[in-house]
Amino acid sequence: MTLITDTISRAADTASPILPVLAGRWSPRGFDSSAVIDESTLTTVLEAARWAPSASNLQPARYIVARRGSASFAKIHATLMGFNRAWADAASVLIVNVANLPIDETRENPWARYDLGQAVAHLTIQAQHEGLHTHQLGGFDAPALAQAFGLGDDQAVVSVTVLGVLGDPDALSPELLERERSPRIRKPLAELLLVND
Ligand SMILES: Cc1cc2nc3c(=O)[nH]c(=O)nc-3n(C[C@H](O)[C@H](O)[C@H](O)COP(=O)(O)O)c2cc1C
Repeated sequence: MTLITDTISRAADTASPILPVLAGRWSPRGFDSSAVIDESTLTTVLEAARWAPSASNLQPARYIVARRGSASFAKIHATLMGFNRAWADAASVLIVNVANLPIDETRENPWARYDLGQAVAHLTIQAQHEGLHTHQLGGFDAPALAQAFGLGDDQAVVSVTVLGVLGDPDALSPELLERERSPRIRKPLAELLLVND
């Protein structure tokens, strides 16, 4: 199978070389609405998240995994903001990223969201390695999502990951196509280093 990934490169223009899988990751909106991710690859991608480090090895990350066509997928998609809903329905899988907040009855884990983000980062890189693409989302109705899946106050809905196979960008609306092709930019490294002694 020739993936569109093979013909489009949005690789980062780095000042110093980084791993190709890191440089090659980007967040598309044009996904192939017919692509199905095989179960073993999906498990591999989730396994990468499972093996992320976490504070005190508390492993606070939880996931709602929904394949396109499932009732859960429809529920997640319905909570997305319009600008995300317009394209995310073509994903193969939508994953809701949830942070388990308590350490025990009295204490909250201050690193729960940090650890969740790190686990999701691992997932995105494994997905890239598998020839898949991810696009993380903050634009959704978190309370509606929590209610739809019966989550409690001790479980924070932090983000949604769109996971799938790159599709034909020309199928996007002109506005989304422009975003799809706009340059990938970053602040200079020097601006990020508060101290570089
Ligand atoms: C926590 C988080 C929330 C995001 N929310 C959205 C979103 O709601 N809609 C969207 O189109 N992109 C969203 N993005 C994608 C970012 O805009 C994107 O990662 C950033 O512009 C850098 O582009 P790149 O991933 O292609 O390098 C989000 C990314 C993260 C990490």
